[in-house]
Amino acid sequence: EKGGHKHFMAKEIAEQPTVLGEAIEHYITADGNAITLPDAGIDFTKFDRITMVACGTAYLACLTAKYWFEQVARLPVEVDVASEFRYREPPIPARTLALFVSQSGETADTLAALRYCQGKADMIVSVVNVPESSIARESDLALPILAGTEIGVASTKAFTCQLAVMATLALKAATDKGALDDQTLATHLATLRTLPGLLSLAINTGPEVKAIARKLAEAQDVLFLGRGAMFPLALEGALKLKEISYIHAEGYASGELKHGPIALIDKSMPVVVMAPRDALFDKTVSNMQEVMARGGKVLLISDSAGIREAGQGAWETLAMPSVDALFAPILYAVPAQLLAYHTAIAKGTDVDQPRNLAKSVTVE
Ligand code: M6R
Repeated sequence: EKGGHKHFMAKEIAEQPTVLGEAIEHYITADGNAITLPDAGIDFTKFDRITMVACGTAYLACLTAKYWFEQVARLPVEVDVASEFRYREPPIPARTLALFVSQSGETADTLAALRYCQGKADMIVSVVNVPESSIARESDLALPILAGTEIGVASTKAFTCQLAVMATLALKAATDKGALDDQTLATHLATLRTLPGLLSLAINTGPEVKAIARKLAEAQDVLFLGRGAMFPLALEGALKLKEISYIHAEGYASGELKHGPIALIDKSMPVVVMAPRDALFDKTVSNMQEVMARGGKVLLISDSAGIREAGQGAWETLAMPSVDALFAPILYAVPAQLLAYHTAIAKGTDVDQPRNLAKSVTVE
């Protein structure tokens, strides 16, 4: 049942190239040049804003997607955790699309937030892994992420498939809004299609990550830093690590370092810097150097060009294949997952059934 893997989490990490490929292809037309959504789809010209609501890792997928919708489609996005959204009872302006993301489709707070939006938002769309779930059934349109059953409590393949579906949605929004010409759309779609292969390469770094994780397992606290769309990935890296290894971890936007967390830097706290060589790379590197100048131990996760340029003096480096900056978060989810997985193994914790956690939180 674990397909030769020791844990469901390992199996689910390994399945990502396949399921991600299926999710991407599902939303692209056969000629590879356009996006196709089920039923009547979504006409983004009808909306001026999107409000996204979810919990946990699904919330972090929304935070990542916000960068895509705003950057590519110039469509403003608000993102909330469901437990805050539902009790804050925010006003929902006209021309709002409400989007709910949930692997299980049964998370109590997310479902309550969806019900709050019924009759207020112009359209309710969900991005779910379980098509028969309550959240799917109560939406105007449910978009499957096609990740297949996810058993490990720590969400892995659901996260990357959620990202893939929302990336195609952002491209659809950009096309509807006239913000993207056919040629650029085709380029983006071709890039998306390279991701499953890149994820395989990232998964192959397992043995290297294992060696790093043996050292990481000795830490009491770990800080994750990222900038731009890598910021939500820093949050996801921290969430994964604390869930299954029980090491206290925090994710921060790199630029926030000097506004507080830099006070924590010392020789005993590893700082994981997730920094593909993109337009913001130099800024992140300068934050990283601030950490190193204070004796902090940096694990730099970048592509080989980034590591060549900025890896000197780092405690550890981990090379990812180079990837188009826009969709880098989908690739960098893999080292975040592998780091948590191997650290938990090194600590001997229960990877698939971490203490105090349930796979689906159906009570608030
Ligand atoms: O089923 P959902 O996607 O609605 O679940 C949301 C969270 O409970 C879930 O992502 C949780 O944070 C995971 N354990 C993260 O690995």
